[in-house]
Amino acid sequence: MPHVHTGAQPAVKVAVLGAGGGIGQTLSLLLKTGLAPASVAQQRRVHIALYDVNRDAVAGAATDLSHIDTPVSVSWHAPEPAGGADPLADPLQACLAGAQLVVIPAGVPRKPGMTRDDLFNINAQIVRTLADGIARHCDLARVFVLLISNPVNSLVPVLVETLTQRCRADAALAAQIPRRVFGLTQLDAVRASSFLHQALDCEPSETAVVPVVGGHSGNTILPLFSQARLEPARGSGAAAESRTESAAGAKTGSKIGAKISAKLGSSILNDTAGMMPTLDPGVRQRLVHRVQFGGDEVVRAKNGAGSATLSMAYAGAQVACKFAEMLLGARNEVRDTLYAKVSGHAAVDAITEHVGYFSVPLTITAAQGAAEADTRLLEQMDTYEREQLWPACLAELRESVDRGLEWAHARG
Ligand code: NAI
Repeated sequence: MPHVHTGAQPAVKVAVLGAGGGIGQTLSLLLKTGLAPASVAQQRRVHIALYDVNRDAVAGAATDLSHIDTPVSVSWHAPEPAGGADPLADPLQACLAGAQLVVIPAGVPRKPGMTRDDLFNINAQIVRTLADGIARHCDLARVFVLLISNPVNSLVPVLVETLTQRCRADAALAAQIPRRVFGLTQLDAVRASSFLHQALDCEPSETAVVPVVGGHSGNTILPLFSQARLEPARGSGAAAESRTESAAGAKTGSKIGAKISAKLGSSILNDTAGMMPTLDPGVRQRLVHRVQFGGDEVVRAKNGAGSATLSMAYAGAQVACKFAEMLLGARNEVRDTLYAKVSGHAAVDAITEHVGYFSVPLTITAAQGAAEADTRLLEQMDTYEREQLWPACLAELRESVDRGLEWAHARG
């Protein structure tokens, strides 16, 4: 098996599918450097298994990463070239066997002239193929799957449905699948935080925390600036935790009112004592639009050669590291805002009008998966969010979810 492997049997194996691509390579670097045992748990080992259909890209990335002096071992897996030594070897099996966390950035990024349907049709087939591999080679009762490939809104339903179909003979196991499969929407919260920070011209010592719910494209992205707040910056890992706490509604904003008043002066409305001030409608609309369509800025800047990779890898690694830490026993649970099937969470399902999939704050444990979903952010939306943003979010998301479900059911 082609691999670069240092160290003994790993305690936690993380598989990255599509590891040779723009996101996959950087994400793998952040896992190799961010999952060093000293930072997550003592005496436990971590192994990252990289898979890609682009053999040279994944072999090169893994070999390169193996020279980094962190005690995280690395292996690489790719289909044999035509006429290769072992045409029967299954590199996907070698990558996935024993993996407890699978992260999927495999797929085609958005290119100019490509419709959303084009992107969906190509990536849905890729996700289905990888889902088949996960169903065959992973323990579905234990594994967590994090999907990055776009369009997330439609592909998470494809992934969940395909995995569920593959284990439908075991109803109890099939019921667990939606609690262990998530789409990564974290980049939207990272962008919202950056853009508010820039708009307020914050100090480097401060982090702007903006909860974002909904889906992961255009109008389905719902940044809740009404529930934003400023916090002391505590490094990137702490910033991620801070976003989670915000998303779970655990803290109330405080300093942000004074800060926004100072920076934007007369543009502040509703600055009632003790309440979150409301941004001037024009300022807020521009911020919301920038978060919803922030990906386009990167596509334009790359002149069509690809979409966001570095910021996505940063956002994805934050989430993946938290899951790995939980699997290592270094944390009891993961609390994060993730895109998931919410029909099992009755309160969310009712508020989201049975759209089926939605990104909300979840509490996830290793044994139970998504054990709880928090609806407080949705209940506390202000009038602008509820009346202007919410209807468009739900309508567009329903279409995307249905597209994924129809595609998966047609191939069941
Ligand atoms: P890329 O083209 O640089 O990398 C994709 C990799 O997937 C390539 O190395 C390719 O060989 C590999 N691949 C294709 N089919 C495969 C298969 N069947 N099995 C294994 N690997 C396979 O693309 P990039 O920029 O890394 O983007 C990856 C995906 O992430 C795209 O769908 C993109 O739209 C999405 N994305 C998601 C974001 C999010 O916030 N969730 C943000 C930005 C991008």
